[in-house]
Amino acid sequence: MKKILVTGGTGYIGSHTVVELQQQGYGVVIVDNLSNSVIEVLDNIEKISGKRPDYEQFDLADRDLTADFFKRHKDLDGIIHFAAFKAVGESVADPLKYYRNNLYSLIHVLEGMKAQNIPNLVFSSSCTVYGQPEELPVTELAPMQKAWSPYGNTKQMSEEIIRFTVESSSIKAIALRYFNPIGAHESALIGELPLGTPSNLMPFVTQTAIGIRQCLDVFGGDYNTPDGTAVRDYIHVVDLAKAHVIAVERMMGNKGKSNMEVFNLGTGNGLSVLEVIRSFEKVTGLKLNYKIVDRRPGDVEKVWADTRFANEELGWQAKKTVDDMTYSAWEWERRLAERRGA
Ligand code: NAD
Ligand code: WQD
Repeated sequence: MKKILVTGGTGYIGSHTVVELQQQGYGVVIVDNLSNSVIEVLDNIEKISGKRPDYEQFDLADRDLTADFFKRHKDLDGIIHFAAFKAVGESVADPLKYYRNNLYSLIHVLEGMKAQNIPNLVFSSSCTVYGQPEELPVTELAPMQKAWSPYGNTKQMSEEIIRFTVESSSIKAIALRYFNPIGAHESALIGELPLGTPSNLMPFVTQTAIGIRQCLDVFGGDYNTPDGTAVRDYIHVVDLAKAHVIAVERMMGNKGKSNMEVFNLGTGNGLSVLEVIRSFEKVTGLKLNYKIVDRRPGDVEKVWADTRFANEELGWQAKKTVDDMTYSAWEWERRLAERRGA
């Protein structure tokens, strides 16, 4: 059985990817320090797949602990590296926290791969590397812009660190640039679990609908978009998770065109904030309390992916609709409240 290390595997996208890997017959070992997730995720992964992944809890920014882990796991076939901090606003307030965590953990993973001859890395990158692209849809060849946040800068720097490491070693890598992942597994057993007040749209929508928040602020109604609200490429987290399995298989089968490849993961469709709200209201039958307020500093106006490269070369395509995304996000929030006895 092929064995994959999933760092950040109890997190939002990681947990969905672990399930997809297990369902395709892979053995999984998770490393997470629970800085932004909870241990119960392991139980819920097991409920879905019938298999409990191996798990080790430590901080990948600790060089010695990470090197020790790799000495004990020489038999890994690949690594999917999700572990990182991801709150854009927090990264502006405390940049060094982000550079330390996101870059040290990546460097230690790469050092472990080199030391133990582990060949294949999938890295979580982000559409944030493009900033506000000049041309839409944005292709992988669009130039990276000056970073809009320290978080975004860690993703740009990480891609460069990986690129130079690949050039000087036998490691192969695929960087996947996610657009806006939302939604949850159809079982409603795993999903996005923000600690504290959510900064992303979808968890704020579901928490408002369930009564944890009073009102959703829609940031900006005067953008140059059809309804004045900002446009993003929202993608179902399960579609995203499946792309990781395909990326691992591509590297293991030596199907890559080069040793470092980059793919956009989006649907290719831009949706406004109001379109997401309308979908949510339609599939749930609920009326969402929202109001349009000032723009959020640092937000781009519109961005959506050119997905041709991922479709044609990776052989992957997002299948789920925005209604699937908003419905599954709501089911997750609703079942979470039930489980917590709310
Ligand atoms: P998440 O916070 O839910 O998951 C990240 C996991 O990594 C958490 O479980 C956290 O505890 C763990 N972690 C963080 N630092 C660690 C460390 N030093 N050692 C061990 N574990 C550590 O985030 P997510 O939404 O699942 O995102 C996964 C990856 O995808 C991140 O790299 C993120 O930057 C990237 N990404 C996310 C989005 C998004 O909107 N969710 C978009 C683009 C890219
Ligand atoms: C989506 C839209 C907001 C909250 C961020 C990161 C990006 C990537 C994905 C990691 C925007 C609007 C939001 C709210 C709102 N993450 N909004 N009210 O900003 O596109 O991207 O997450 O790599 O790097 O920057 O996502 O979900 O925060 O916002 O009106 O309460 O919803 O203005 O137009 P964003 P988001």
